[in-house]
Amino acid sequence: MHNRLFLRYLIVWVNGFVCLSLAVVVQPVQADQQVTVLVAYHSVSGHTEKMAHAVAEGAQSVSGTRVQLERVEKITANVLFAADALVVGSPVYWSNMAGEVKTFFDNWQFKFGVWPEFKMRNKVGAAFATGGQVSGGKEVTMLTILAAMLGNKMIIVSGGGVFGASATTEGDSPGINEQELADARALGKRVAEVAWMMKRGNVNRDTEEIGVTK
Ligand SMILES: Cc1cc2nc3c(=O)[nH]c(=O)nc-3n(C[C@H](O)[C@H](O)[C@H](O)COP(=O)(O)O)c2cc1C
Repeated sequence: MHNRLFLRYLIVWVNGFVCLSLAVVVQPVQADQQVTVLVAYHSVSGHTEKMAHAVAEGAQSVSGTRVQLERVEKITANVLFAADALVVGSPVYWSNMAGEVKTFFDNWQFKFGVWPEFKMRNKVGAAFATGGQVSGGKEVTMLTILAAMLGNKMIIVSGGGVFGASATTEGDSPGINEQELADARALGKRVAEVAWMMKRGNVNRDTEEIGVTK
């Protein structure tokens, strides 16, 4: 009799313990415990797309990071403004970013109404590029992407290279090599890490800038 009572208590106790443990483990990740990195790109022959996947892989390697990979023309206002960090990649067209990528930035205003609130303010930003020639405009391309982000008061980070990650895709260096992919992964990882620093530091994107008109 005693044994049966003890067994019943034991089952109730174990049940309670298991339920409590599950509740702790299966807790949904709250929005403020998650960082979203949006990787946006344009690509026709697939090189920039390959780099974009490697950037996404790098960001994904940082625990708790949610990564969204999208072609620039598919990105909506909701997706853009929900991201904590944005990495933009472009092929070099005539020593600059592709028209599609420039249109993406212009649409922040024309379609998404980013201004006057500066809705991208204090989000982390970074760039990557692929170009046919060794010296054919990859750095200009990354710098013009970063310039558009700076104009939107974003916080710019480097990674993989001085201005971002880049790859040479033609001539003596066809396609994307392992080092270029590693650079792209390094960029994605750093962007996610900095985005986490911002989130943990509880940076309030809505805080007024002192002495500066919006
Ligand atoms: C219209 C056009 C202009 C280009 N201009 C340049 C250039 O100025 N410098 C350069 O290095 N490569 C240039 N390229 C080569 C591309 O940047 C390169 O092939 C790139 O890796 C393509 O990216 P994707 O495969 O993602 O489309 C140009 C290609 C096209 C189609």
